[in-house]
Amino acid sequence: MKVTVVGTGYVGLVTGACLSEMGNHVVCLDVDERKIRILNEGGIPIHEPGLEEIVRRNVAAGRLQFTTDIPSAVAHGTLQFIGVGTPPDEDGSADLQYVLAAARNIGRHMTDHKVIVDKSTVPVGTAAKVRDAVREVLAERGVDIEFSVVSNPEFLKEGAAVEDCMRPDRIVVGADDERAVLLMRALYTPFMRNHDRLLVMDLPSAEFTKYAANAMLATRISFMNELSRLAEKVGADIESVRKGIGSDPRIGTHFLYAGTGYGGSCFPKDVKALIHTGRENGMRLEVLEAVESVNDRQKLVLVDKIVARYGEDLAGRSFALWGLAFKPNTDDMREAPSRVIVEALLARGARVRAYDPVAMDEARRVMDGLQGIEFVTTQAEALAGADALVVVTEWKEFRNPDFDGIKAALKQPVIFDGRNLYDPAYMKSLGFEYRAIGRAGA
Ligand SMILES: NC(=O)c1ccc[n+]([C@@H]2O[C@H](COP(=O)([O-])OP(=O)(O)OC[C@H]3O[C@@H](n4cnc5c(N)ncnc54)[C@H](O)[C@@H]3O)[C@@H](O)[C@H]2O)c1
Repeated sequence: MKVTVVGTGYVGLVTGACLSEMGNHVVCLDVDERKIRILNEGGIPIHEPGLEEIVRRNVAAGRLQFTTDIPSAVAHGTLQFIGVGTPPDEDGSADLQYVLAAARNIGRHMTDHKVIVDKSTVPVGTAAKVRDAVREVLAERGVDIEFSVVSNPEFLKEGAAVEDCMRPDRIVVGADDERAVLLMRALYTPFMRNHDRLLVMDLPSAEFTKYAANAMLATRISFMNELSRLAEKVGADIESVRKGIGSDPRIGTHFLYAGTGYGGSCFPKDVKALIHTGRENGMRLEVLEAVESVNDRQKLVLVDKIVARYGEDLAGRSFALWGLAFKPNTDDMREAPSRVIVEALLARGARVRAYDPVAMDEARRVMDGLQGIEFVTTQAEALAGADALVVVTEWKEFRNPDFDGIKAALKQPVIFDGRNLYDPAYMKSLGFEYRAIGRAGA
């Protein structure tokens, strides 16, 4: 099938690459010339395991192309996926300007039937807005061309995006037109060979499902983070509690990890947007308001522990910070807890030496201008002469590090662990002062 993907970011690039892997002919369009140039020169603008290989293979086979040329991209695909960003507006609502601009571009250049697929995370009612935007442009052109609008929210996880896209748990398709559903089913059949995972529903339900999924996951994280604070007060160990409840199949083990709060490009903005949708409809979403405020506070939990240990004034102190990306296996720094932690430490006069296995360039870019942070290229360099090690992201390489080396390099053997990577008893036996999240004896 011929597919155009508008917006070649995390979602657009992965979707385009996976669709081409199944034999489809895909054109990925972006307005960002730098991104398209990198891709056309054989590079990959983001870090995502397995992506480079799949892109390279399909580009070589002539099934995957990248362009900034809007008319030819619109002409190419019968299916026009919109995967552009939907950042939060000042009031927390999803900013639809990029989605609607993409829709208008499709309307401006289409000459035959198109199925326009909203893949971006968009509030209920956006499909109708996309339809209106396209109709308006077609009317301006004085032409009458049939098109369908479909909602197909994306559920991939950064860091495992290719795997998620190739083997989806479910594919949600919101539509009110049979012809479009038929095409969507044909496109996705190769991704669900063992059983049908296509959930067809009405447009508003499909749009809502994506927000409900992210809001639920964010709620689990904030729930555990809040309980971890109480666990510290009452002498319980949140890791034991996590296992104790996660083994109940009604609860399950996923997204129950206490830590430094959720970040990334989705949870924070999607929770905000859903709260906003509630408000627009005369409803306060009280659970989600609490989820958000618990999370804001949790991003500072390590700083609170550092201040409790060293005092408010951190002038003259230096900290080794391991992990900058908002989670492992990505270089995405959007809303990363590390940003809040670094700023809070610097604001108290501390110096920070930071290391991340893949997010260094992105971190340098987003933290540009901050005084007192140095980006280094190894774990060891970050440690040299620091007062303590602060672990922020649970990269695999941090899970069993060289503890003797850490001890020798730090001024004193102190670790603040925002991801509960280590066993408090073991750390004690090694002579570390170990502070973690909601842990008995730490
Ligand atoms: N990143 C994720 O893990 C994830 C997962 C599921 C859903 N989503 C949703 O998918 C959407 C995209 O997210 P992302 O992380 O891929 O964003 P991104 O910022 O990585 O990519 C968006 C791309 O769209 C491009 N763009 C903007 N306007 C355009 C236009 N008019 N024409 C062509 N290109 C245009 C931008 O230049 C950018 O490259 C968002 O709504 C997000 O909430 C993201």
